[in-house]
Amino acid sequence: MKVLGIDIGGTGIKGAPVETRTGKLVAERCRIPTPQPATPDAVAGVVQQIIDHFGWTRRVGITFPGVIVDGEIRTAANVDRSWVGLEGAAVFGKEAHLLNDADAAGIAETTFGAGKGHDGVILMLTFGTGIGSALFTGGKLVPNTEFGHLEIRGKEAERRASEIVREHKNLSWSDWSERVQEYLTHMERLLSPNLIIIGGGASKKSDKFLPHLKTRAPIVPATLLNEAGIVGAALAATEPISP
Ligand code: BGC
Repeated sequence: MKVLGIDIGGTGIKGAPVETRTGKLVAERCRIPTPQPATPDAVAGVVQQIIDHFGWTRRVGITFPGVIVDGEIRTAANVDRSWVGLEGAAVFGKEAHLLNDADAAGIAETTFGAGKGHDGVILMLTFGTGIGSALFTGGKLVPNTEFGHLEIRGKEAERRASEIVREHKNLSWSDWSERVQEYLTHMERLLSPNLIIIGGGASKKSDKFLPHLKTRAPIVPATLLNEAGIVGAALAATEPISP
């Protein structure tokens, strides 16, 4: 089955049709810069451009950097506040299936990537503009975990240790790793995962910081990198449409 997956990120909106049995993109990815401000109308316009680019008329899976419950957007920490309370189908059309961006990346990694074949508790963390999280047990997702908002030293973890904080504060890899380490130690105390997968923008440079980190569970970089959101969105959209 082929499904169009679209990944809404802070800097780019990316989409491609995906063969959901293999997780492979079946056409070259289309990427359009995220409009600023990223208002619902502006983003919906770009999503429509991507849908038109592929001449798509069927199901579309779309990631969003916030909590999504039954198609409704509940939070928007790093995008325009006007998203909160909107229904995905009202913004993107009735063929659209919306889910959290980290959940989508986690679905892709546990199905085709670094977590494939793992039955235990898997914690996927994405380090980008924010910190996204996805938690799995026995291959099943607990959606909308939002562990990036956990407080560390009186501050939300993603305000201390996201990839964007590293860039903006010009932190060395070892200084940034210390912040990530503190966060991971806390997460391990709370969840005792069997495997930790690191994704998001930072995962492309995992050789720079993974060697600095010490965790009880094995910690591995995501393997689908840029494509995880697209693939996960497409996989999630194959689920039956709820009434
Ligand atoms: C949002 C999450 C999102 C993460 C990564 C956080 O600020 O609250 O929903 O998954 O950023 O984009």
